[in-house]
Amino acid sequence: MKILMVCLGNICRSPLADGILRDKLKAENLNHSVDSCGTSNHHIGQQPDERMTETALKYGYDLTNLTARQFKVNDFNVFDVIYVMDSSNYNNVIRLASSEKDKLKVKIFLNELYPNQNMAIPDPYYGGEKGFEDVFVLVDKATDVIIENLKI
Ligand code: 4NP
Repeated sequence: MKILMVCLGNICRSPLADGILRDKLKAENLNHSVDSCGTSNHHIGQQPDERMTETALKYGYDLTNLTARQFKVNDFNVFDVIYVMDSSNYNNVIRLASSEKDKLKVKIFLNELYPNQNMAIPDPYYGGEKGFEDVFVLVDKATDVIIENLKI
């Protein structure tokens, strides 16, 4: 299984989801791959936001080897599941889909934790420290569910 995490900038939410899931897959000896990207081109080549990196590090996850890239149409061919962090990301990715098969790959990340609610991982970029903590808690829980489902 190839899993792609998508947000807007690929410097806060999706690199966190990527870094946490990578480590959990390794810890569980699960042979799936994960990557992340953003729908925008604003932060291409950058490391994750320092505030996200610091929060992740506090809980034992190292995001410093991740680099932002932009979502590309070919990602539909490469990945089996494309998790988006909010409805805006969803619309931006779906717009680039060229088939029903592509569209079915796109899933709202937090539906793993709260099925059918279509809830967003809130964008922490313009907020304070607490926003990054809140994102961590949600992403940590949702990735636990993903891991449990991959074990079945
Ligand atoms: P992300 O957060 O989508 O979780 O990486 C953001 C990063 C940058 C911006 C917005 C959200 N920005 O407007 O530059």
